[in-house]
Amino acid sequence: MNHSKTLNLLLAFAVVLLIFQISYQKEDTKEQESNSETIEELVDYAQGEKISISGTPALYPTPTAVIGTEINGKPNWIQIAHIGHIGMKGLILSIGKAHYSNRGIKKHKTLSINMVSEAMIVKADYVGMKSGADTDKSKVFDYFNGSLKGAPMIKESPITMECKVVDVYDTEHHDNFVVEVENTYANKSILDEESNIDFSKVKPILFEMSKKKYIKTGKIVGDAWKDGANYKAD
Ligand SMILES: Cc1cc2nc3c(=O)[nH]c(=O)nc-3n(C[C@H](O)[C@H](O)[C@H](O)COP(=O)(O)O)c2cc1C
Repeated sequence: MNHSKTLNLLLAFAVVLLIFQISYQKEDTKEQESNSETIEELVDYAQGEKISISGTPALYPTPTAVIGTEINGKPNWIQIAHIGHIGMKGLILSIGKAHYSNRGIKKHKTLSINMVSEAMIVKADYVGMKSGADTDKSKVFDYFNGSLKGAPMIKESPITMECKVVDVYDTEHHDNFVVEVENTYANKSILDEESNIDFSKVKPILFEMSKKKYIKTGKIVGDAWKDGANYKAD
């Protein structure tokens, strides 16, 4: 091997080594950044001052959903954030008595619950701003029907449920519909091999009342029924 060939080989080796070192350093910085993000988030609220902000219900953010009903043969959509689980099979939706949707729900005793993806925010917000009593909202979403009458489901929603109303808990201003899910439809792309929903892929939108904002989810920060095993009593 002559002198210039050896020099070229050495030079090529040095370049490869440099590239390797730079990409390794980048990975290292990325890891440090994500670690410092986690450390920053773990604020010890036990140390801070607590002040009373009156009796504000503050169990936010909550999932938000578009509820589908059928009134006069047409779909009507309403956005609801006061929604939750009741027992193991039931869900409860708190809907103001004045709303147009309640007519359809009470007539058919069915409804659909459609989870809101980030791409749906504008439409979901719109159906939460306008009433079907004076605005035709039937064309806002393309829909499909399942097995229940009166429960149109939104095609662009990643997870939709057709539900039967099994009870109504009546309060002064709200019909609180207790429903049971008859069928749940989910996009194949958000399911794992066992057909479990991967919510880190769905990234459902949450709503909070304090500043009236939509919040994106999707970051996994713990394992349920597992992390608690690390608790050490003093
Ligand atoms: C983010 C958001 C959340 C809402 N949550 C609820 C709720 O939980 N319950 C309710 O009765 N109305 C809620 N609303 C208001 C209704 O969606 C709104 O009054 C709608 O226009 C009623 O439609 P309808 O008359 O066609 O049924 C919400 C609106 C928005 C924008």
